[in-house]
Amino acid sequence: MVVKKPNLETQIGRIKFKNPVLAASGTFGYAREFEKLTDLRRLGGIVTKTLTLKPRLGNAPTRIVETPSGMLNAIGLQNVGAERFIGEKLPYLRKLGVPIVASVMGYSVEEFVSVVEVLDSAKGIDGFELNLSCPNVSYGSRSKDGGVRMFAHEERLVAQVVRAVRKTTGKTVIAKLGPDVSDIGKMARAAEDAGADAVSLINTLVAMVIDVKKRRPVLANKTGGLSGPCIRPIAVRMVWEAAQRVSIPVIGIGGIMNAHDALEFLIAGASAIQVGTAGFVNPNACVEILEGIKRFMLDEKIRSAAELVGILNA
Ligand SMILES: Cc1cc2nc3c(=O)[nH]c(=O)nc-3n(C[C@H](O)[C@H](O)[C@H](O)COP(=O)(O)O)c2cc1C
Repeated sequence: MVVKKPNLETQIGRIKFKNPVLAASGTFGYAREFEKLTDLRRLGGIVTKTLTLKPRLGNAPTRIVETPSGMLNAIGLQNVGAERFIGEKLPYLRKLGVPIVASVMGYSVEEFVSVVEVLDSAKGIDGFELNLSCPNVSYGSRSKDGGVRMFAHEERLVAQVVRAVRKTTGKTVIAKLGPDVSDIGKMARAAEDAGADAVSLINTLVAMVIDVKKRRPVLANKTGGLSGPCIRPIAVRMVWEAAQRVSIPVIGIGGIMNAHDALEFLIAGASAIQVGTAGFVNPNACVEILEGIKRFMLDEKIRSAAELVGILNA
C-alpha cells in the first residue's frame, strides 16, 4: 500500500481542523506578531491569548525567566479584553481562514459566562477554550497559606464553569485543565459530564526560581508557570490518563518542540496538540511539526491522523 496524501483532519466538537497542530494560548500573541515568521494559514488552528472581560496589564516585571529545558512565566493574563479583541484583533485572525478558538477566563462562574456572552456573537470565533488553570492569577483570594487557587483544582468548580458556559453558547467548548492535581482523569470526567466538547491539557506547572544573591524569587509574582520540554513527560502521562477516562477528544499540550514530541501525544491519546514555548525558540515550529507528522505517516503508511490516536501498545 502506498499512502500519497495522509488525511490530517481532526474534529473537535463542531470544529473541523484541517490538521491537528494548533498554536497554544498565550504564546502566539494575537497571531499577527508571527505573520512574517511563519505561514499562519498552514496551522490547524489558533488559540488566542486568554481574554478577560476587562483589559488586564498583567503582573509587574520580572515576568519571565529561563530554566533548564524550559521557562517560567508569570505574565498574569495581560490582554486587551473581550470588546477590544473583537474590534482590534479578530478581523485579522478571521482573514487567515483557520479555526479560531478564543481562550477565556473569569474570576467567577458568572464572569466566565459574561466573557463568552460578549464573544459568542462575534463572527470568526469557532469555539472557546476555558482557561481553568492559569497559575498566575488567583480567583477570589489566594488560599490562607498563600497557595495558588484554580478552578481546575476542584471537580465541582470545573463542572460549574463548564455547565454555565455550555448553556451560554452552541459553539465548541474546550476545558483547559492544569497539572497540579492528583487525579487528572477525574477532572476530565467532570468536564465531560458537564458538557465540554473536549479537554485540553496541560497548562503550566506552578514553580519558582530563586536569585540566591538577593535571596528573592526572580519573578515579581514569586511563583510562575513552568513550560517547555521539561514538562513534556508529565504532560504525556496526564494526556494518557485523561484519554482513558473520557470519550470526548483530548488535546495534548506541554513541551512539544518537534514532530516526534507531537506524535508521542497522539499515540498517548490526543486528537490534536498545541505548541507553546517552542514558538519562542522557532516561530516556524508549528509548520515544521506538521511536516514531520506527515513524513512519519508516509513512512509508516498511516492514512489518517485519527488512526494514530491512542494506539499505544501495551
Ligand atoms: C509566556 C506564556 C504565556 C501563557 N499564557 C497563557 C494564557 O494566557 N492562557 C493559557 O491558557 N495558557 C497560557 N500559557 C500556557 C500554554 O498555553 C501551555 O499550556 C503551556 O505553556 C505548556 O505548553 P508548552 O510547554 O508547549 O509551552 C502560557 C505559556 C507561556 C509560556
